[in-house]
Amino acid sequence: MTLTTQHFGVEIPTVGFGTWQLEGAVAHHGVLEAIHAGYRHIDTAQAYGNEEFVGRGLSDSQLQRDEYFLTTKVWKDKYRDGDLQQSVEISLEKLGVDSVDLLLLHWPNDDVPMEETIAALNDAHKQGLTRHIGVSNFTTALLDKAVRISEAPILTNQIEYHPFIDQSAVIEAASALGTSITAYCPLAQGKVMHDPVIGEIAKGHDVSPVQVTMRWFVQQPGVICLPRSSKAEHIRTNNDIYDFALTPDEMAQITELNRQNMRLINPGWGPDWD
Ligand SMILES: NC(=O)c1ccc[n+]([C@@H]2O[C@H](COP(=O)([O-])OP(=O)(O)OC[C@H]3O[C@@H](n4cnc5c(N)ncnc54)[C@H](OP(=O)(O)O)[C@@H]3O)[C@@H](O)[C@H]2O)c1
Repeated sequence: MTLTTQHFGVEIPTVGFGTWQLEGAVAHHGVLEAIHAGYRHIDTAQAYGNEEFVGRGLSDSQLQRDEYFLTTKVWKDKYRDGDLQQSVEISLEKLGVDSVDLLLLHWPNDDVPMEETIAALNDAHKQGLTRHIGVSNFTTALLDKAVRISEAPILTNQIEYHPFIDQSAVIEAASALGTSITAYCPLAQGKVMHDPVIGEIAKGHDVSPVQVTMRWFVQQPGVICLPRSSKAEHIRTNNDIYDFALTPDEMAQITELNRQNMRLINPGWGPDWD
C-alpha cells in the first residue's frame, strides 16, 4: 500500500526509505528490499556517498521511472550558481536517472547569498534536472525567505522530527505556506523502541513501538517520514502499518512526549533553531 500526501498538486508517497549511513551493498540491497516492501519514495543525498548504490537498487527493482519518487540533496559547498547545477548532473549520473523528483538544499549556508542558491536551484528545475525543489533544516524565517524568492514552489522542508522534539513552529509555518514537512530521524535513531508510553500503546495494538511511531506519522496531515534500516525485516515491518490505527488520545499521548525537546542532529554549521 502506498499512502500519498498532496502539495502544490504533487503526490508524494508518505513513507520514504532513508539511506543515510547505508553504504555500498547495504544501500543497494536496502533500496531493493524497500521497493519489495512497498516503499515508493527513496531519500538520498550527495553527502551520503551512496547515490550510485541507491541507483543500482532502483535499477534492479525493475520499476519504471515514474513508479517511484526519488529525492537527493545538494551539499552546502555546492551552493554557487553553476556549481550547484554541475553537482546535480553528477548526482544524476551516479543515480542512473535523467532527473530526480525532488532536489533539496541539505542545510542553510549563509556563506552564499540565499538569492544566488535559490536561483541556481530554480535553474536546475528549469533545465529538467529535477521535477521539484525544496529545502532541509530551514527555520521558519529561512523557509519564509526561500518561499518568497523562489519561482518554483518549495515542496518540502526536511527537518528532524520524531516524538521527542517539538517542531510545532516549523510545521505551522510550513502548513501556512503550503509546504510539506518531511521528517528525518523519524524513529529518533531507534530511541522510540525504549519509550514506555509508546511501548504501552504498542502492546495494546499488538505491534512494535516503531510501528506505533510510523502510525503517528501517517496520521498527521501533510507530513512525510523517512525511516531508515539496514535490515530486511525492519524495512518490511516499518511499512506494515496499515491494519491498525491510533485513537486521538493515543496520538495526543505521543505528541506530548515532545516536551523533552531532544534534538539529535545539531552540527556546528546548523542555523539558530526556532
Ligand atoms: N536532511 C538531513 O539533514 C537529514 C539528517 C538525518 C537523516 N536524514 C534522512 O532521514 C533518514 C532517517 O533518519 P536516520 O537514518 O537518522 O534515523 P531513523 O530512521 O530515525 O533511525 C534509524 C535507526 O533505527 C533503527 N531501526 C529502524 N527500524 C527498526 C526496527 N523496526 N526495530 C529496531 N530498530 C530499528 C535502525 O537500525 P537497523 O539498521 O538495525 O534497523 C537505525 O539504527 C536518513 O536515513 C536520511 O535519509 C536527513
